[in-house]
Amino acid sequence: MTRVFFILLIGFVFAVDYYEVLEVSPDADEAEIKKAFRNLSRKYHPDKNPGNEEAHKKYLDVTKANEVLSDSSKRQIYDIYGEEGLNDPQLFNRRRGPNFRFELEVDLEDVYNGLAKETTIRRNELCKKCKGTGAKDRKTVPCKHCGGKGVRLQNVGGFGFNMQMQVQCERCGGRGFLAAERCPGCGGQKVVNALKTLNVQIEPGMDNGSEIVFPGQSEQSPDWFPGDIIFVLKLKNHARFERRGNDLVTSIRLTLKEALLGYSKQISHLDGHVVQIDFTGVTQPESVRIIKGEGMPHQDVPSNKGNLHVRFIVDLPGKLTLDQENTVRQLFPR
Ligand SMILES: *[C@@H]1O[C@H](CO)[C@@H](O)[C@H](O)[C@H]1NC(C)=O
Ligand SMILES: *[C@@H]1O[C@H](CO)[C@@H](O)[C@H](O)[C@H]1NC(C)=O
Ligand SMILES: [Zn+2]
Ligand SMILES: [Zn+2]
Repeated sequence: MTRVFFILLIGFVFAVDYYEVLEVSPDADEAEIKKAFRNLSRKYHPDKNPGNEEAHKKYLDVTKANEVLSDSSKRQIYDIYGEEGLNDPQLFNRRRGPNFRFELEVDLEDVYNGLAKETTIRRNELCKKCKGTGAKDRKTVPCKHCGGKGVRLQNVGGFGFNMQMQVQCERCGGRGFLAAERCPGCGGQKVVNALKTLNVQIEPGMDNGSEIVFPGQSEQSPDWFPGDIIFVLKLKNHARFERRGNDLVTSIRLTLKEALLGYSKQISHLDGHVVQIDFTGVTQPESVRIIKGEGMPHQDVPSNKGNLHVRFIVDLPGKLTLDQENTVRQLFPR
């Protein structure tokens, strides 16, 4: 009996902490939150706990916490304004911060094979100590300047008229509250400069100029929802292969003898596998042989590949000996 009362009282006095519900730290990233939710929702799922009221309640709490923390906009509003903020549609009317684009130099091998590339960027983040409020222990006081409304009326005078206009309070930046004491983590700045590591996944078949987007991962501020980080691939030239759409082009040098009689050649491909090409007969200089399925992987279906175009360059001897000259005359009388 006392226990029930105790729990009710706690529930009544303190708002739910979604981070505690999901058993993650307040600076958990998206992946940690996803993992925690998967784990806990499996544990408390009604199918696994038939008739268990407590598990059912836990399940609902976990679902609700995940709904907020997995959504970057909701999470930001919750962090700054708490649970009440989520019910204030006005707070969701904020602008989006700027996107940031980074050029990412890649080799042809990287877009042939695919590559996971950890990339670290520097950006402003909401201060974790004060959750972007700038206030020590998140203790705020209503802004006296605007009476906690975030806006105030300003007198506008002119030729014979006098009116009042509503303007954003410059003291509290429209938030309606001020820090009781400055947060020591950010010195009251609300944001701190920090490094963020992003796992950039280069998929096989991506091209020069392809974009890899991390939504909502750009500069954070209490005044906006963060924009996107966008990596733009910049393909470096390759020594042996040239890319043309989904096809690859390479060159092979033949001696005069190989051009006249045939060749047996090996091409070492972008993942190291060897393409063997053999031919008996005459090969014209600058002619092109197409090898099906040895081009670039298609981005949508990487097992489908374009073709490899092999261009033949014939190296003629620089000079013939007298014997060679005579032999050629006999071979080709006209
Ligand atoms: C899953 O949840 C249980 C119970 O809360 C916890 O003990 C365990 O460490 C969690 N596992 C993972 C992988 O998060
Ligand atoms: C990739 O695109 C850039 C800009 O359009 C261009 O300068 C560069 O030569 C291209 N790289 C390759 C390998 O085609
Ligand atoms: Zn104010
Ligand atoms: Zn702070």
